[in-house]
Amino acid sequence: MLSGLKDRVQVKTILNTESHLEGKEVTLAGWVYNRRAHGNLLFIDLRDGTGIIQISIHKDKVPQKVFKDVERVTRESSVIAKGVVRSDRRAPGGYEIDLKDFHIEGLAEEWPLPIDAGVDVLFDKRHLHLRGEKQTLIMRVRATVFDAMREWFKQNSWTEVHPPIIISASVEGGATLFKMDYFGEVAYLTQSSQFYLEAMIQSLEKVYCINPSFRSEKSKTPRHLTEFWMAEAEAAWMDLEDITRVEEQLVSYICQVVAERHRKDLETLGRNPDDIGSVKPPFDRISYREAIERIKKKGMKIDYGDDMGADEESKLTEDLHKPMFVLEYPKDLKAFYHLPKPSDPSIVMCGDCEAPEGYGEIIGGGQRIHDKDTLIKRIKEDKLKPADYEWYIDLRRYGTVPHSGFGLGVDRLVRWVCKLDHIRATIPFPRTMTRRVP
Ligand code: 4AD
Ligand code: MG
Repeated sequence: MLSGLKDRVQVKTILNTESHLEGKEVTLAGWVYNRRAHGNLLFIDLRDGTGIIQISIHKDKVPQKVFKDVERVTRESSVIAKGVVRSDRRAPGGYEIDLKDFHIEGLAEEWPLPIDAGVDVLFDKRHLHLRGEKQTLIMRVRATVFDAMREWFKQNSWTEVHPPIIISASVEGGATLFKMDYFGEVAYLTQSSQFYLEAMIQSLEKVYCINPSFRSEKSKTPRHLTEFWMAEAEAAWMDLEDITRVEEQLVSYICQVVAERHRKDLETLGRNPDDIGSVKPPFDRISYREAIERIKKKGMKIDYGDDMGADEESKLTEDLHKPMFVLEYPKDLKAFYHLPKPSDPSIVMCGDCEAPEGYGEIIGGGQRIHDKDTLIKRIKEDKLKPADYEWYIDLRRYGTVPHSGFGLGVDRLVRWVCKLDHIRATIPFPRTMTRRVP
């Protein structure tokens, strides 16, 4: 243990204890969030990994050197502070610290992010911007979303698997593949782990993975990243309705957990936790055809057969309070692997889950083609080469079963849950068309 930190307590411990630390001397280590002066009285807001606490420094009650150090300490300097816990109803967390001793570990240079810094400046300095209160809360909520997903899958007997990131053929169309040189051959970064999950259901039946996915999408929208996180699941013996039910249960569970564990954080972010806590199954289910009619009625120009973009999905979902499924799209709008509807093969048995309040698509999924000849026909229709999908076709040669799956865009879900304008705020170091640094 670092010398000087033997008696360290974290801010949360002080704020959580019913005064059992009151009157005790404690050591705190953290960063100077803010400093204010009122003549002979100085205040520091000290931030550590668990919260923020106010420290007060009386000129008459500390050695001169200590007072001088507090006077010169700058915003975001790292410090070790010793002091006595005092309850104070006016203090933000109900307690504050009367400083006794103070050590500056790393004196910070002038903080380069002014209060009125624009988005570009903030994201150029994202490695520093992440220290902000709002950013910290979003990262906590994000971590809980990942916890909740794993909890739900575990509780429902799904097995976590680990597909590769380096792949050899497209899942969601060649246009958005990131290409790389692989020892003189071509390889790509994965767009989706779906095909690998389809291989693994043959032994494990219900599998999931939580992986980054990559798409070189030239979309400058508030909901597109070029590197994003997807939770994907695949199950043998499930049809579209079965997998849709899985999706609504998973999304509801995540919402319950976040609302319960982050009430205050959500409020600070401007999201009413009850909006999220009230998300429970069943979600409405409408057809693509119905979705197009609804969007038309709202005055947008769109026809049957057109794809829904961000604007159309926003219109469709602006008045909703919980997610909704849009099922059964025309096959030309979707990738080749979706199962054609037996009664009308121009439609596929897919389903997108649309988040409410205008956020739009968070999940894409559905039932897969499990017949070999149909799959080969669809691959050719999409002008792809069956040879590139040999192993995927093999899955239909050796004990094929009806099966379904989905991919949940985790960053998009976090954006909705935290009520954020832009997806870049959901992830520590966003990758977009115009950003790969820091
Ligand atoms: O709808 P998508 O393209 O579906 C698939 O990739 C399937 N193969 C998944 C599967 O069935 N296993 O992508 C799934 C989800 C979308 O609904 C969206 O939430 C998210 O991934 N997504 C993105 N998120 C952020 N930035 C992007 N560029 C995204 N593209 C897709
Ligand atoms: Mg989709």
